[in-house]
This record gives sequence, structure tokens and C-alpha cells, in this order.
Amino acid sequence: MAGFRIPEQVIEEIKASSELVSVVEQYVRLEKKTGQNFFGLCPFHSEDTPSFSVSPSKQIFYCFGCHKGGDVIRFIMEIEKCEYLPAIQLLAQRAGITLPEPDDEAYRLRSEKTKALQAINLEAARFYYQNLISTAGRDARAYLQKRQISAQTVRRFGLGCALADWDGLYRHLQNKGLADDVDLLLQSGLLRRGKSGNLYDLFRERLMFPILDVMGRVVAFGGRVYDDSVPKYINSPETPIYTKGRHLYGLNLAKSSKAGRLLMVEGYMDVIALYQAGIDYTVAALGTAMTENQARLLAKYSESVIIAFDADAAGQTAALRSLDILHQHGLKVTVLQVPEGKDPDEFIRNNGSERFQALIEQSLPLLDFKLLAARREHTHDGALDILAYQDEACDVLGKEENAIVRELYAGRLADELSAMSETVLREIERRRSQKKPGQQHDQLRQTLLTTRRSEPAERHAPATRDEIYLLTLLASDSAIWPVLDPGPVVEDFSEGSMQTLAAAVLPLAADGRLDMPLLLDQAQSLTVMGQPLADLLAQAGMKQEERFGQQGQLEAAVELLKRQRRGKLMRRKDVISQAIMTADPVERDRLKQELLEISQQLEKMKSTSQ
Ligand code: UTP
Ligand code: MN
Repeated sequence: MAGFRIPEQVIEEIKASSELVSVVEQYVRLEKKTGQNFFGLCPFHSEDTPSFSVSPSKQIFYCFGCHKGGDVIRFIMEIEKCEYLPAIQLLAQRAGITLPEPDDEAYRLRSEKTKALQAINLEAARFYYQNLISTAGRDARAYLQKRQISAQTVRRFGLGCALADWDGLYRHLQNKGLADDVDLLLQSGLLRRGKSGNLYDLFRERLMFPILDVMGRVVAFGGRVYDDSVPKYINSPETPIYTKGRHLYGLNLAKSSKAGRLLMVEGYMDVIALYQAGIDYTVAALGTAMTENQARLLAKYSESVIIAFDADAAGQTAALRSLDILHQHGLKVTVLQVPEGKDPDEFIRNNGSERFQALIEQSLPLLDFKLLAARREHTHDGALDILAYQDEACDVLGKEENAIVRELYAGRLADELSAMSETVLREIERRRSQKKPGQQHDQLRQTLLTTRRSEPAERHAPATRDEIYLLTLLASDSAIWPVLDPGPVVEDFSEGSMQTLAAAVLPLAADGRLDMPLLLDQAQSLTVMGQPLADLLAQAGMKQEERFGQQGQLEAAVELLKRQRRGKLMRRKDVISQAIMTADPVERDRLKQELLEISQQLEKMKSTSQ
């Protein structure tokens, strides 16, 4: 895959055949409210009044609530939470455009195999679903009913069942023409070879859970028995398209949730039951302990994770392990304690979703949970071994990087132990000084905090409407740049954010490469007058046609640049006139000189514009 690039003209073709409004409408209900543009409820954050807008003429979207914006590719990347290449592939597929294959033979073979295995898995999922809704699926349906899983949920998760016969799937794949390559069938993991050389199905008489990757492709299955026999579940083995510990069950659905967090549970059934109860941001680690890969995957989709593992000892140990991995990946982690009952699925069935919501809100921050776990570990027959507990608690708190947090918890622990908080804190710090590694971290955090603090000055950076429109015009029509003579330079723009933006985009405009998505991209995280600069640009970009008309844009740009230059000189003139009054004699002479130069420039402008 490395180095493989889709040619620019193919990307242009994909963009041209992916009209933004119709692409967005597959995800968002749009209304035409003002002028040319469409509005709808933003799919990226939750809101009651529409601030998500789409401009058909500019082919850009922009949300005035969460400030996400860009072109059709960016939209797909955001909504499908994927990288650039998969977004292109998805759009190409929907537009019926075949992407060129790279020359690399090894890559070509691998991608062919991937596609073939995906096709087999998809067909298997269809087959299991058909089984479930056929008369032969009555056992599975009865089981689902017992678990209170609705038909709608069955469809949402693509549940199905494997029947009792030995080779139902094999025969189905034969009928579909997908069984020619025996090697490939074996690699799919769904079929096995018997002693006599014949193929038979891995899954028989089981409720089937397709495992989907983030993009919604079937990559593997889990299958559950209908009773208490063992093994309760069997799962697809690892295959070229399925690596355990790299996937999270339910993430394909959870990634589109607007909850802004993810809930991590242990089992298939938990994900499904919670989803049915309206908690649509749950994922499961699929029977493995949480892996680095899964933590990285989670971090891509959310900044905070709630862990809700089973209340049994194994579940709690797993929770502790997962906590550390997630924490190391920068996630904010809290732990939900399911009281009585075994797992979230059972709890919600017995107590309803509102009480589960309450548990979510009460989930414990990482340190509280660790302290609680230590307390439990050292409680025997209802009696707390206070020495062992304080020892472990101080160790736990000694690992915390943030000094303020340490102090806070030291106070609480002191209360709990009826000790002086200074003593507890001293003990914690003593343990810290025995292990150095954490300290670099602390410094890093410190520098991050101090650099962040210097931002507010930028927030009040000025900007004029003229320069904003000038940039959106430049981004809409590459014919404008050559007409501006002399062309705009960084100094023509207001100091601060506007100049930062100008420095980034003027060279692009000079090259004829600047467009609206790029402009919005470069403005990301810049603010002027307390507002995101991208907001102002998007607003201007969407209104400019109304304002200047299609034809008047060239003239408008010329005029705007002139006004911007004049305005800037006038403002500088005001500043100097003020400063002269209080300046010392040497400084005063210099300022007078500058004032004179400005006046001359302004004069010259007047004469050339007539
Ligand atoms: P659980 O035993 O908690 O399963 O195992 P569950 O999903 O809650 O199922 P029910 O409610 O008993 O029907 C948690 C997860 O561990 C994996 C599965 O992914 C399961 O969802 N597991 C469990 C296996 O892979 N094999 C097993 O034999 C058991
Ligand atoms: Mn369960």
C-alpha cells in the first residue's frame, strides 16, 4: 500500500460525480432556508437548531456550531471517521468509478484476496440471516425472544443463525459461485476440511453475530449456543482480514453516536442490549483483554471511555488492566460499577435503561476506582486491613502525574484513614521520588499548559469584512489572482490571525491552488474577535454570490483589496497621530516621517483609482 497514489484526475472525477448535497443527504436531512444554501442538524455534534450548512455552488459544508467544514471528501472522512484513502474508495464505489490498481503485484494479490474474503463473509452473513427468518430458524428466534431482542435490533446487527446441518454454508457458497477456490474458503475460517478431505461448516446450531469492521464490512463471526452447553461462544479464527484485538464489536455503529464518549463492555449481548435501550455508543473487546491496538482505535473515535465490565472478579481485574492501557493512550477513563446482576445486559433487562443511565453518570474516575479496588482487595470478611490498604493506596496515588490531583486525593485518603493530609501527601511524594520516569511527563504537561495560556491574545486579533471576502473570492475563482496588481501581500492583512492565514494561503492562491476547503482548513483553530476564523470565512463564502453576483466577482476583489489597503493605512495613521502626542522628541520625528509617507501613499491611491 505504501506509496500508492490515486491519480489527481481520478480524484477530480470522483469529486465531480459526488455532488455534495446528495452525498450529505444520505446522512442528514437538509432544508433550503436562505438563498442558495441548505441547512440541517449537524451530524457531528448534537443540537436542536440547524447550524450545519451546505453550499451547492461552492461544494462545501460548514457547521457554525462545531466549526467542522470542507469538501465532499472531508465530509466522508468526518462522518465515516476514516482516513483519506478509504473516503475516496467509498465515494468511488458509490459513484461507480473503478479505482486504478497499483502496479505492485504483491499489493494487487493481497487486495484481491481481501476482496474475495470480504465477499465470502458478506455472503455468509446473508445466509445466516436468511436462516434466522426462515421456518428453520425457529429455535434461534425463540432464543432471541427470550433475551428480548427485537426484530429491528436483529436487522441492525445483522444477527442470524447457523442450522444443524454440516455443510449448509458450504452449499450456499457453491450456489453463489463463491466456492471455487478451496484454499480461500479454508482461509476464511468459516469452513474446515474433514479427514476425508470434504469441507464442512465451522458454525452449526448457533446464534450468529457478524463482526463488522469500522467501515461496516463483515470480517468475522461469533456464534452462541442456545443453552448452557460449552463452549458458549465460538468465534472465527484469525484470517487475513480479521486479527483479534484489532477490532471492537459495535464500533461501526458507536462511531456515529453523538454522545461524545464510548462505553466499553465485555460481550456481544451487552452491546446489543444497550443499543436496543437507546445507548448507542457501546463497544465490546470480543473476549480478549484490552489491547494496545484497541486502545488506539478507541482514541481515534472518542476522548473519553467508560468501562463497564462484569461485576465478577475476572471482570474487575480486566477493568483494571484496561484502565491503564486506555489512560496511557490519553483517554479520559471512568469505570461504571454494575451492582447486583452479572453484566450490563442483565442489569438493563431487570432495571430498565434509566437506571443504567444513572450508573453511567455515577461512573468513577480512574483513581477513585483504583482506590476502591485496593480497598476491596484488602477487605477480608468485612474487615479492612488498613495497613495494607494505605500502602497500596499511596502507591496508586504516587503514580499520578498531576501534583494538584495528588494533593486532592491525599486529602481524601487522609480523611479515610483518619490521618493528617500532610503526612499522607509526604508519603505519596516519597514514593514518587523513588521512581523517576514520571517526571519528564510532568514537565511536558507544564510546558503544554504554559504555551496554551498564551493564546487569548490571538482571540482578539482584528479582521475586516473586506479582507475576509477578499480571501473567499480568491478561493472561489483562480482567475482573480492575476487581475490583482500588485497582488495582495501578508502586510495588507490585519495583524495576528489574519496575517497568519494570509501567509499560508497567499502562496496557494498565487499558484492557482487555493479553494474553499483548503482555505477553511488553513483557518482551523485561528480566531479573530473571539470567533473562529473559519466561521467568518464559511459565512462569507456562502454569501458572496448573493453579494457580488457571479459576474461582479473580479471587480469586487479589486475593490476590496484597494479598500483593505486604504483602511489599513488609515488605521495606522490614527494610531500614529495618537502616539505622537506622548512620544519623546526622537520618536516624534520618526513618527512624523511615517505619517507623511502614509499620507503620500493615500494620495497616490486616490489618483490611481480615478
Ligand atoms: P460473556 O460470557 O460475558 O458473554 O463473555 P455475553 O456476551 O454476556 O453472553 P450471554 O449474555 O451469556 O449470552 C463475554 C464475551 O467473551 C467472549 C464473547 O465475545 C463474549 O461476548 N467469549 C465468551 C468467547 O469468545 N467465548 C466464550 O466461550 C465465552
Ligand atoms: Mn451476558
